[in-house]
Amino acid sequence: MAHAASSGTPKFSSRLAFVMAAVGSAVGLGNVWKFPYTAGENGGAAFVAVYLLGLLFVAAPIFIAEVLIGRRGAASPPQALGSQAVEHGRTNAWRIPGLFGLVGGLLVMSFYSVIAGWTLDYMLTAARGMFSTFDAAGAEAHFDGLKASLPRLLLWQGLFMLATLGIVAMGVRAGIERAVSIMTPALGILLLLLVVYALIIGDADRAIRYLFAPDFSKLNADMALAAVGQAFFTLSVGIGGVMMYGAYLPKDASIFRASGMVVAADTAVALLAGLAVFPIVFAHGLDPEGGPGLVFVSLPLAFSAMPGGDILGALFFFFLLIAALTSAIALYEPTTAWLSERGVSRIKGTLIAAGGSWLLGLLSVFSFNIWQDVDPLGFIPSLQGVNFFGLITNGIDKLVLPLGALVISGFVGRVLTRKAVLEELNMRDGPLFRIWLFSLRWITPGVVAILFLVNIF
Ligand code: TRP
Repeated sequence: MAHAASSGTPKFSSRLAFVMAAVGSAVGLGNVWKFPYTAGENGGAAFVAVYLLGLLFVAAPIFIAEVLIGRRGAASPPQALGSQAVEHGRTNAWRIPGLFGLVGGLLVMSFYSVIAGWTLDYMLTAARGMFSTFDAAGAEAHFDGLKASLPRLLLWQGLFMLATLGIVAMGVRAGIERAVSIMTPALGILLLLLVVYALIIGDADRAIRYLFAPDFSKLNADMALAAVGQAFFTLSVGIGGVMMYGAYLPKDASIFRASGMVVAADTAVALLAGLAVFPIVFAHGLDPEGGPGLVFVSLPLAFSAMPGGDILGALFFFFLLIAALTSAIALYEPTTAWLSERGVSRIKGTLIAAGGSWLLGLLSVFSFNIWQDVDPLGFIPSLQGVNFFGLITNGIDKLVLPLGALVISGFVGRVLTRKAVLEELNMRDGPLFRIWLFSLRWITPGVVAILFLVNIF
């Protein structure tokens, strides 16, 4: 039975389908919602510079390594890690970090679903013609109203989870492939329109300086770790999500080329989001350090000034919702796949994953409402005033994903033989390969280790 399941791993029909699906997993709330507000909380351009460097030299090499592990192992992350470790004469215990990765995915999903729920609310708000009535105060009041209503928060979070669950339970091809290939380009086009508009009506000068003229005196270890963490988060690496897609990539497709396209598309969307948000933030005197609500206050203001803004706004939040959905799918997929290797049906496996992340998600829901000021680890000075949502998002970026990256770097850089790696990448032992391997073996673990140490001491 288990045999039939593993030899029958479904494959995407082409490299393009893989790229679309991987872009679907990478592009999501991380780009449009999280990148702008995290950049804002960390002072702008210096953060953006570290983020871009981190993407190129730290996170992208890990992305490639994850695709490689996944395709070579052709199974869920724990299984792919364990079987290849054994094949190379190492211990099957390598599957254990894979299991942690599954939990990591559910932890990401726990807060992801809450924010995705907000996009659902905003889509309907725009569709009812409310964006055009917003001024800065009105936009802020609407956002505060959403946070103040526990029933609304719970309803949207629950609906989003149900939608994700339905798609994952339906299976790989039917569910994932179709949605992504239409919606991601559509989101990109609307975002581009939004950028043009924001640059015209907003404070373009100040926004561009804020995002791209780094003041490196603002650089510090905590901010650098946040930037590298955001680079991991936005590429979906560190918890095996990309491995899962790797398992579905056809053997003859070039991993490097496919990965390059994903990184390029993902980075473009994040920068566009930043360029759409900050001109509005500065023009309306909003606080760039406004936190998780930043996008939800600033973008409706851009739409409110735009002819047809209500319809375009509804479309935008609809596409963002789909982008979040295609990321959420990839957060469940590893757990579902792992359980199905163990004979649990897809539907049951997805229900287990969804149930777990829904329960965890209540911590985030409450963090915007009744538990806003509850700081469970407040006895630690640096975590004073940080609620569950803050602990989970920061814990993912600054701890879980970097640790996962260390595991992946060690696995591909030191467990797998050079021959096996070259074979799977299907490339020559040339400069490109060597730069990648050097980044993977030394830069990624070096940067993560230094940032950990400097942050602790
Ligand atoms: N990259 C996704 C985004 O930017 C979120 C994400 C983080 C993710 N880790 C993941 C998605 C793992 C899928 C799998 O929105």
